[in-house]
Amino acid sequence: MLKNIVVIGAGSMGNGIAHVFAQHQFSVTLTDVSATQLETAKNTIARNLARGVKKERLTEAEAAAILAGIQYTTDASTAYKNADLVIEAVSEDEALKKMIFKQLDVSCKENCILASNTSSIAIHQLAAATTRPERVIGMHFFNPVPVMPLVEIIQGDATATEVVHTIQNLTQVIGKTGVLARDVSGFVANRILLPMLNEAIGTLDQGVSDVTGIDTVMKLGMGHPMGPLELADFIGLDVCLSILEVLYTSLGEAHYKPQPLLKRLVAKGHLGKKSGRGFYDYAGEDKVALQSF
Ligand code: CAA
Repeated sequence: MLKNIVVIGAGSMGNGIAHVFAQHQFSVTLTDVSATQLETAKNTIARNLARGVKKERLTEAEAAAILAGIQYTTDASTAYKNADLVIEAVSEDEALKKMIFKQLDVSCKENCILASNTSSIAIHQLAAATTRPERVIGMHFFNPVPVMPLVEIIQGDATATEVVHTIQNLTQVIGKTGVLARDVSGFVANRILLPMLNEAIGTLDQGVSDVTGIDTVMKLGMGHPMGPLELADFIGLDVCLSILEVLYTSLGEAHYKPQPLLKRLVAKGHLGKKSGRGFYDYAGEDKVALQSF
């Protein structure tokens, strides 16, 4: 029976994952190296819960109980010892993730499951940093985590079947649908999604249409809830670039080669919604499509 959950990384994925587990009565510890990031995460979770209260989907008392179910700390050593499941959700940096898995292998009890929310790095590569690859698995959530009902579950070549079943059941318990994917970089979602986002950026850079035009085509023509450029901003342009780099290196297909415009924007610190500017400007109440980059 899994009870104590530790989430590593308090960015948009980490705070959403912590929120969802707390909402389903798990005891959650959210950890990050940055106290400021933890404070931001706490405020985001409180804001998202308040939105639910306003829409009468939960009561104020329920929202308070969910908030109280999450501990925030920059030192998770005690939490690691008691954890039944750790979900790593730090940035898409293989060396950093491997360092964390090495540390978890030392700190966590023997039967603790070590999961990664990696969106592109093969699970067996992370598992190789531990002495318990049979307890390492991928749990890939989607942003915004409280809203998106999918978890990609990735079985590494050594992941025990029992661990896969535990995570499949857990995914149901937290109200999500799990889809099992083979351990090939990018899995299902990003292998298909990222070339579309990359192509939209190339389409913009070639002047085929502007930001509004490209996003409108995909929303009205294809029924997507967000256009690809808004979605890239929403995911984070740095995250999109990291995923494309992993996919291009491991799969070698030309459509994964990051577009020069994406690289330029990331180099300028224009990372999308979280930095206030990407393909849109988010400074005002309504986002504004940009005309030059
Ligand atoms: N937390 C909690 N609830 C949220 C939320 C958040 N961050 N953002 C929105 N919501 C809720 C709202 O309260 C609202 O709830 P109700 O239906 O109960 O009223 C609902 O979600 C819809 O929100 P809005 O009405 O504000 O806005 P919307 O209808 O435009 O929907 C959206 C917003 C759900 C984000 C929608 O635009 C969408 O589905 N976009 C695509 C998102 C997507 O593709 N995500 C996957 C990205 S890829 C990824 O994450 C993986 C990776 O590895 C890159």
